[in-house]
Parts: sequence; C-alpha cells; structure tokens
Amino acid sequence: MNVYDGQRITNMLEKFGMIQTDNVADADLIILNTCAVRAKATDKVYSALGRIRRTKKKSALLGIVGCVARESGADAFKRIPELNFVLGPQSYHKIPDIIKNPDAKLLNIDLGGLEKFDELPQMTKSPTVAYIPIQEGCNHCCTYCIVPYTRGRELSRPYNDVIKDMINAANNGAIEICFLGQNVNGYKYTDSDGKLYKLSDLIRETAKRPEIHRIRFTSSYPTEMSDDLIDMFGTEPKLLPFLNMPIQSGSPRILKKMNRPDDINAYKTIVHKLKSVRPDIQISSDFIVGFPDETDDDFEQTLNIAREIKYINSYSFKYSPRPHTAAAIMPNQISEQIKSVRLYKLDSLLNENQREFNMSCIGREMICLYEGIDKTGNNMVFRTPYMQPCIVQGTDDKISPLQKIKITDANKASLRGEIIK
Ligand code: 5AD
Ligand code: SF4
Repeated sequence: MNVYDGQRITNMLEKFGMIQTDNVADADLIILNTCAVRAKATDKVYSALGRIRRTKKKSALLGIVGCVARESGADAFKRIPELNFVLGPQSYHKIPDIIKNPDAKLLNIDLGGLEKFDELPQMTKSPTVAYIPIQEGCNHCCTYCIVPYTRGRELSRPYNDVIKDMINAANNGAIEICFLGQNVNGYKYTDSDGKLYKLSDLIRETAKRPEIHRIRFTSSYPTEMSDDLIDMFGTEPKLLPFLNMPIQSGSPRILKKMNRPDDINAYKTIVHKLKSVRPDIQISSDFIVGFPDETDDDFEQTLNIAREIKYINSYSFKYSPRPHTAAAIMPNQISEQIKSVRLYKLDSLLNENQREFNMSCIGREMICLYEGIDKTGNNMVFRTPYMQPCIVQGTDDKISPLQKIKITDANKASLRGEIIK
C-alpha cells in the first residue's frame, strides 16, 4: 500500500514540474511516507527526520505522510519544528497546498472518505506491476493492530472506479495487476441499482483484458475467503497460484486474545479447498511471536501450523505494543529476550520451508515477469508466479517482460534460471 501511495505522490508532484532526486541536500521538497504498524518503523521515521533536518536546504519543505503522521498528529510539529506538513494516509493529495502556501503548517489527519482517489491526477504511465487499492481501512480490530486507528474503518471503492484504474493501467503498460487492501477479500460494493460486486467480480473482469497476464491480491483475512473467490483459483489461470492469507498464530487461545478467527480447522479447510481447485497453489502468512501471555506451548502450536501448511514467502514479527490498541495494556507482556528466541526459531523453520520449496522448483519451467537488473549489473531479475526472485545471467534492454524460464538452481532466497527460446 505504501509503495502505491508513493507512486501516486510522485505522479502528482510531476504534474507540478517536480523531478525526483536521491540527494536530500538537493531537494526542495522532502516527504517521508511512513508506516506505524510496529514501533521500530515509527522510531525510524523520527531518526530519519533528525538526520534530514540537518542536511536539507534551509528553504526545503519537509513533511511526513501516512500512518505515523496520523499517529503523531500535531505532536510531530513539537518533536520536529522544521516540519511543514503532517498528512495522514487519506489526505496526502493535499501536499500541493503546502507548495502554494509554504509558510503554513499543514496538518490533516482526518479519515473521512476516500476523496483522494477522485482528486489525484490519473496515472499516465504504469509500472509492469500495477497496484490498485480496492478498499482501505479495516473493521476487524485485531487487538495488536494500529491500522483501524491510522487508516480508519473499512471502505470499498466503487467497482467502476477500480475497473477504470485497471483499464488505465492495462493501456499504460501494466502486465500484472495487484489488488490491494488491508482486508482485500472483504471488498464489497453495492452500486445504485443494488448490484453487489465482490473481489471475484473484479478478478473476472480484469482477466478479460488481453494486456494483463497476472493477477494477485493482498492481504486476505482467512474467514473472508468465500467460495466464489476460492473457485476463481480453479477457473482463472491468470490468477497466480500464490496467496497471502495470514494466520498470525497457531494457538486458538492466543488467536482469541488477538480477536482473530481461532478455528484452526476452519483455516485448514480453506487451504484444503484452495488446493483442491488449484493443486499447485502455495500459501504465505504473517506471524506475530510473543503476543501477551503467549506460552511455550502456544508458540509450539505456531511452529506446528507453519510446518504443516509449509508456508512460503512469509513474514514474522516480534509483537510490538502500539498506542490505541487493546493488546498494549494486556497483562503478561513477553520479554524481548523470549520474543527474540521465538522469532529465531520460527524464522529458521520458515526459511527451511522456503528453501525446500525453492529446491523443488529446479527443473520446472515457469512464465516469469521481468523486474529489472540486479545489483551487480550483470543479471536480470524476474518474478516467478510464486513471487520468488529468479536470476538469469546477462542483460537485454529490449527483453519482453514475460519469459518462459527453466529453473536450474535454487537457494533459500532465490532461484536461477535460463530463458527458453
Ligand atoms: N506487532 C507486530 N506485528 C504486527 N503486525 C501488525 N501489528 C503488529 C504489532 N503490533 C503485523 C501482522 C500483520 C502485518 C502487516 O504486520 O502480522 O499481518
Ligand atoms: Fe490489522 Fe489486518 Fe487485523 Fe485489520 S485484519 S486489524 S489490518 S491485522
């Protein structure tokens, strides 16, 4: 979501004749697009601001947008007096106001509706992977999560607006569409005739576009995986065989405290249904270790589910107490030391799963999407249908973005392959 927001901000400022620079000292306008999901992310914003205020031009405008802006509000101006603007995730389209009136202190952390989508200029070029938000905010209220506070209650965008964005992206060079939302599979929009549209309708319509070859969506809430959506994996080959469906913990006791779906069997049934319509599908998850009151036995159950589902491409985090959340004031908070030990154990298991899956890909042929040149400058990087990076030796400026690649080698982090001519 933040990558998408960053692209929209860049596009909007280009319309004002601005160009990007990597050098803070050259910039006339400096924007930090921020994440507040864990304390570490918030801390990084303030240490970056401390650095930037010393290196920036005196006249340069400085601001933060996104979830830390929403979390900090007017306090941000007190902490960093050089700040000119603090704009929450639903109001970054107001950045031009500060360009027009640079002496003001601009604060807007309203949640309101989704006006920004109407006010931002249309994108005139698209990256090969086009992110399209279809809903924002979240009604689930997991007890550890700051998102319902920073991004607000769940709102689905009008179906026709999403389709317009998708067609625009397809006409401007997109090959893959990634639908975004904090609770993406909860997308529901009823038009003025009373017709209800769901995520499966968006996928079906997108798959009709010949320019679009790959479709995915993130992030899914387990109990919103409705049968119409599961069936899409069986009927729509453009839908990638890869799904991010976070479980967070393997312990029903902890899931209850997290206010998450706590029926592990129901979760496994969804995975089973997905595999029955799409046998090659792989699942990814997010995990939180060291949630308040998590015992060794609870944690063991997390390891067990990770072993059983054999998740790939997963993310694991130490629980981080966040303001405005119920879990932050729960008793039996877990020490950093125990969190670190658990994170290490879980990561080792997830890495082993990933390595095993990557190794199992050797010998397979996959259609992969070109991403760019790697750091060495000597290799091309592609993304497989499972979002693994796949490295191919050599470079080619004119390469067409979709290539059939035979996987020749693998390690924990990536694959190697050869283009099949
Ligand atoms: N502490 C640690 N991880 C968190 N996440 C959300 N809130 C917290 C928190 N307070 C993780 C969840 C979520 C991902 C985006 O971030 O795993 O799925
Ligand atoms: Fe946060 Fe996701 Fe839970 Fe919503 S479903 S409250 S975004 S963790």
